[in-house]
Amino acid sequence: MSRLDNKIAVITGGSSGIGLATARRFIADGAQVIITGRNQEALNEAIAELGTAATSVRGDVANLEDLDRLFTEVGEQFGRIDILFANAGIAPLAPFEAVTEKDFDTLFNVNVRGLFFTVQKALPLLAKGASVILNASVVAQTGFPNTSVYSATKAAVRSLGRTLAAELAPRGIRVNVVSPGLTKTPFWGKVGLSEADVAAFGASVVEQTPLGRAGRPEEIAAVAAFLASDDASYFTGADLVADGGQIHV
Ligand SMILES: NC(=O)c1ccc[n+]([C@@H]2O[C@H](COP(=O)([O-])OP(=O)(O)OC[C@H]3O[C@@H](n4cnc5c(N)ncnc54)[C@H](OP(=O)(O)O)[C@@H]3O)[C@@H](O)[C@H]2O)c1
Repeated sequence: MSRLDNKIAVITGGSSGIGLATARRFIADGAQVIITGRNQEALNEAIAELGTAATSVRGDVANLEDLDRLFTEVGEQFGRIDILFANAGIAPLAPFEAVTEKDFDTLFNVNVRGLFFTVQKALPLLAKGASVILNASVVAQTGFPNTSVYSATKAAVRSLGRTLAAELAPRGIRVNVVSPGLTKTPFWGKVGLSEADVAAFGASVVEQTPLGRAGRPEEIAAVAAFLASDDASYFTGADLVADGGQIHV
């Protein structure tokens, strides 16, 4: 008997990085997984790897019609959700004075509005005992240059973790946050910095990290799998920071 046997899990942004590693881990622990993302090709590649315990629904979390379609399909196919990992997120980074209104709206639309409505629209399907996990970041608690909007979105995610935990507890739904530190995923190729700037940023973070390295997506997946499982039955509203000790020490 594995700890996520017979659980139905939805992972937004499950075609890459932390979401894909979590899909692998949930499946290894016995779950049936539904992954989402905007790019159909990336979803197809992920499903080819994950096998029959996974299905995908293409969609953009910033588009509420896509979210309605996602949860209609999940409802029709599986009837309920036991685990929701609201993981999809983006991080175009820029100096404060260079941030445009469009950059600001795009980030909040995906990381905050998209995550908020992902949970709201999943709610009718969330089973008693369900676990909701929100992917925030250590940046919710730190002040890295060039991350003003991204960090603000992640602070909002952390805040939602507290409020939704309180509001959904009477329905038997636990809501927790996982806050990764620097984690090696394709994310860093999409932030709009040059390779040299990403490398310099990574090196400066690693220097401040007692464990002396970046995290692996599997290490964040392990935290999500714990929060998803009954082993975390007394956790709600918590923020598990997996950052090699960067902000703790
Ligand atoms: N990597 C890190 O160092 C780190 C640290 C702290 C927190 N995080 C957080 O961890 C989460 C996952 O990041 P990652 O590192 O795994 O990044 P990643 O490798 O770039 O994966 C991001 C995933 O989200 C999907 N996605 C992006 N925008 C979406 C949208 N609007 N609608 C639906 N899906 C969308 C992507 O697929 P498509 O592009 O095809 O849509 C992809 O599957 C993010 O919330 C990120 O902020 C990452």
